[in-house]
Amino acid sequence: MIVVWRVTERCNRSCPFCAYDRTLSRSRQDVDEQMVERFCRVLGEYRRTTGERILLSWLGGEPLLWRPVFEVSHRLRQTFQIEVSATTNGTTLHLGRVQRHILECFSELTVSVDGFAEFHEHVRGWPGGWHQLREAVQTLAQARTAMAAQLKLRANVVLMRDNLTMFADLCEALAGWGFDEITFNQLGGRDRPAFFSAHRLRRQDSQTLSAILPRLRSRLARRGVRLCGSGQYLRRIDASTHDISLAVNDCAPGESFLFVDERGRVSPCSFTSENFGLPLKAVCSVDGLLSLPGSFATARERKPAPVCNDCPSTHVFAKFAV
Ligand SMILES: C[S@@+](CC[C@H](N)C(=O)[O-])C[C@H]1O[C@@H](n2cnc3c(N)ncnc32)[C@H](O)[C@@H]1O
Ligand code: SF4
Repeated sequence: MIVVWRVTERCNRSCPFCAYDRTLSRSRQDVDEQMVERFCRVLGEYRRTTGERILLSWLGGEPLLWRPVFEVSHRLRQTFQIEVSATTNGTTLHLGRVQRHILECFSELTVSVDGFAEFHEHVRGWPGGWHQLREAVQTLAQARTAMAAQLKLRANVVLMRDNLTMFADLCEALAGWGFDEITFNQLGGRDRPAFFSAHRLRRQDSQTLSAILPRLRSRLARRGVRLCGSGQYLRRIDASTHDISLAVNDCAPGESFLFVDERGRVSPCSFTSENFGLPLKAVCSVDGLLSLPGSFATARERKPAPVCNDCPSTHVFAKFAV
């Protein structure tokens, strides 16, 4: 079971493709810590009774800005044997305190890196950030090896027409930083349509990506780095570049993946909180958790969500497979 929890809408960077860009005027809510504690107990009970592996992944905004993130993560790991991960812009990764916590209680960390220094710093609104990020990841990777900590380091790249030509060289560079795995998203356009239309991948970009991937993957594999992105995932990207919708009638909602937002709504993915979101307060037992797939399926039958007619959820298209 994978649970992705958006714990804050706050961010300290200004990516022009993102809904949480700090320069945007919008709500900036944090999740209620008590609510997180309560639901973690339910997840712990679920883990104990089913024996199933659970990975709880913090998302934002910038999740490492959520004050109790490490306190809660330690408890999840120690008390409930729940694995913890986060996706971060890496702006706090250079801090020794942050590195120590990550090494002690995270089993995965995904770091966003969209290009080499000039591109990444420009697109993230983070002058001088790239070198700081590189040093922080390298230090973390070395400490992980020295401590034999079970921490998977993953880089995630947002692909757009502007950085596709540097993607292969970027992956080689990221392998040198100490990442174990590299994933990519195509630029999505729901939140920032103006940026999207000027920077989205085009048909020829999707073809280029599919063409370079096999050899790049082999080269990286020889260096011990896994480049993710299944054939199904590439077909999803290609369909988007052709403006072809890919409808998903049954993604087995709630069976092995849950999304929770900062307001405490649990839904089958981050795109359906408004349509199918249920208050987490109502899920106060293992039975409550086990009833979610049925509740989501019923809600979908009653009133399908328009977004499912062109599903943008990366996990549905096997982003992490090869
Ligand atoms: C919303 S961010 C939150 C985590 C953290 N602040 C970060 O930047 O990694 C989660 C992931 O989504 C990516 N992302 C943000 N906006 C995107 C978009 N419009 N299309 C594709 N990926 C996007 C980010 O680069 C990051 O890897
Ligand atoms: S750092 Fe992450 S959350 Fe912040 S604006 Fe950029 S992509 Fe969005």
